Amino acid sequence: MNILITGANGFLGKKLSLKLLEQGHELYLLVRSRKRLDAFMQGEGSDFSRQIHILEGDVTEEHLGLNRELVHSLKGKIDALYHSAALLSFDEKDRDKTFKVNVGGTENVLNLALEINCPKVLYISTAYTVGKEIFGAEALYSADRRFVNPYEASKCEAEHLVYTFREKLDIVILRPAIIIGDSRTGEADTNFGLYGFLKGIKILKKRAMRRQDGQFCRIYLDPEVAQNFVPVNYVIDTLDAALIHAENGGIFNITNPNPPLQSDVYEIVKEVLDFPQLEMCVPLSSAEMTSEEKAFHNSMSIFHSYFQRTIDFPSDNTQKLLADAGVPMLQMDRDVLTRIIAGYLLDEASISS
Ligand SMILES: NC(=O)c1ccc[n+]([C@@H]2O[C@H](COP(=O)([O-])OP(=O)(O)OC[C@H]3O[C@@H](n4cnc5c(N)ncnc54)[C@H](OP(=O)(O)O)[C@@H]3O)[C@@H](O)[C@H]2O)c1
Repeated sequence: MNILITGANGFLGKKLSLKLLEQGHELYLLVRSRKRLDAFMQGEGSDFSRQIHILEGDVTEEHLGLNRELVHSLKGKIDALYHSAALLSFDEKDRDKTFKVNVGGTENVLNLALEINCPKVLYISTAYTVGKEIFGAEALYSADRRFVNPYEASKCEAEHLVYTFREKLDIVILRPAIIIGDSRTGEADTNFGLYGFLKGIKILKKRAMRRQDGQFCRIYLDPEVAQNFVPVNYVIDTLDAALIHAENGGIFNITNPNPPLQSDVYEIVKEVLDFPQLEMCVPLSSAEMTSEEKAFHNSMSIFHSYFQRTIDFPSDNTQKLLADAGVPMLQMDRDVLTRIIAGYLLDEASISS
């Protein structure tokens, strides 16, 4: 098949590209900077250069910034389009930019799909369009619910937009939870989600080692709250299965039915980093924290809402999709999580950063 991918330079975009290239598909990769794709083209992508067409563009522009001739040449040529490009900022200051990329960009992508007669658009959303609720569904959420940040709100609005196109083309909404490294290798090329937290813990350890006073470093997290981590290779398998097996209008939570507890993550981090002074406590008021602990918790403030609640995500649609495609369901045990966390924490480059 001929497949167009937006966000092809991203964490997910590159892994998805590789999987589809290995299957023999021909890819049209939309990137803002051809140069940034160089490492991929000279590394993992080098065996597939004849299957790759690079399109330089920007989803915030009409026709994604592609010129008229190029758009014309794509007419009738693209069998499916994965829309993965997005701005993953939780910052209120980026609200306008976030909506411009995530909602305006999605509208431009859908219009381009119509113009070039692409029959199927697979939209990569997020499980967190659920907002501040604790029970999810594999259905559109009301757009007037309360959200934790503009990112969630923009992705929910974009889902609604995508859904309105289902009379004109086949649309599929795919909602990963927190994407972490590869379950087989631990490798991850991202600083988002779990990796922001792990980076903060490494800084805590560096400070503790410098002090050498044996004092405990407390992180204030509820041990009973679960974090919905999904390995990137599982997400890619699901995106791939959806290409053939998902029907028009399908919504899929790519979530972990047995998510690890924060206490599991804490124990693994403590063991992998050999950091006996690390202690997990139930949240205290900031008045009771040391200045170092306060600094850590302030740096994690964008995650607070996620640290405080377990969200129940049903994933029946995804389970059926994977069964139809003959792909096994996610089995993420402690060994897999340890491999993924160690993959980041023991990486020399990430330790010195
Ligand atoms: N990572 C997660 O945990 C997670 C979880 C749930 C859902 N998702 C969703 O999965 C998708 C991919 O996320 P990711 O983790 O791969 O993020 P990422 O590594 O930040 O990749 C996002 C890509 O979007 C591109 N992009 C941003 N603005 C653009 C624009 N105006 N025009 C064209 N391209 C633009 C970026 O291009 P540049 O390389 O040029 O910056 C980047 O390559 C997103 O839709 C995200 O919402 C991610």
